[in-house]
Amino acid sequence: MHFKKMTGKNCYLSPINPEDAEKFTTWLNDPEVTRYLKTATHIISLHGEKEFLQNLAKEHVYTIVDIKTDNPIGTVGLAQMDHINRTAEIGIFIGDKNYWGKGYGTEAMSLLLDYAFKTLDLYSIFLRVYEYNERAIRSYKKIGFKQIGTRRKALRRDLKVYDIIYMDILSEDFYHTTQ
Ligand SMILES: CC(C)(COP(=O)(O)OP(=O)(O)OC[C@H]1O[C@@H](n2cnc3c(N)ncnc32)[C@H](O)[C@@H]1OP(=O)(O)O)[C@@H](O)C(=O)NCCC(=O)NCCS
Repeated sequence: MHFKKMTGKNCYLSPINPEDAEKFTTWLNDPEVTRYLKTATHIISLHGEKEFLQNLAKEHVYTIVDIKTDNPIGTVGLAQMDHINRTAEIGIFIGDKNYWGKGYGTEAMSLLLDYAFKTLDLYSIFLRVYEYNERAIRSYKKIGFKQIGTRRKALRRDLKVYDIIYMDILSEDFYHTTQ
C-alpha cells in the first residue's frame, strides 16, 4: 500500500513500505543504478533490505510512486536533520530506469523540499553528487541547488578517480524569495 503524503503532477511520496523490499533489492543490485550511489559497494540481500526498510520507515524517507499506476519507482529522503541549525542532507534515486529523464526526479525532490521547508521548518539542505552524474546535476540546478564545493578525487570507480560535488539550497533559493 502507498499513501499520498505529498502529491505532485506525475508522482507522489509515500512513507516507506517494507513490503517493497523486493523492488528495492532489485534496484540496489543493478549496477547501472548504483553507479551513481554509495551503495555500489554494499551487499544488498532481500532479508537485509527488509530490515533496513523497517528502520527507514521511521525516518523522513519516502517512496516515490507513479501517480498513474501506483507503482513505486524510487526513493527520496532526508538525513542528518538538525533542528537547531535547520539543516539536513537530501538524497534520491529512481530505481526503475524507465522513469529516468522524464521529470519524476525533479518533481519528487521538489515535493520533499517543499515539505522540508514549510512543514519541518528546515532552512539549508545539501546533497552530494558524483561528478559524472550529469543528469542528476542538471535536475538539481533546475530546482535551485548551487554548487558549494568539490571534494577532489574522493571517489574510486572503475579504476578511475572522481570528484564528489557538494550542492546546497536555501528556502529562498527554492521559493525565489528574499528572507
Ligand atoms: C538523478 C535522478 C534522481 C534524476 O531524476 P530524473 O527524473 O531522471 O531527472 P529529470 O528528468 O527530472 O531531470 C533530468 C534533467 O537532465 C537531463 N538529462 C537526462 N539525461 C541526461 C544525461 N544523460 N546527461 C545530461 N542531462 C540529462 C534531462 O533532459 C533533464 O533536464 P531538462 O528537464 O532540462 O530537459 C534519476 O535520474 C536517478 O535516480 N538516477 C539514478 C540514481 C542517481 O543518480 N541518484 C542521484 C545520486 S546523487
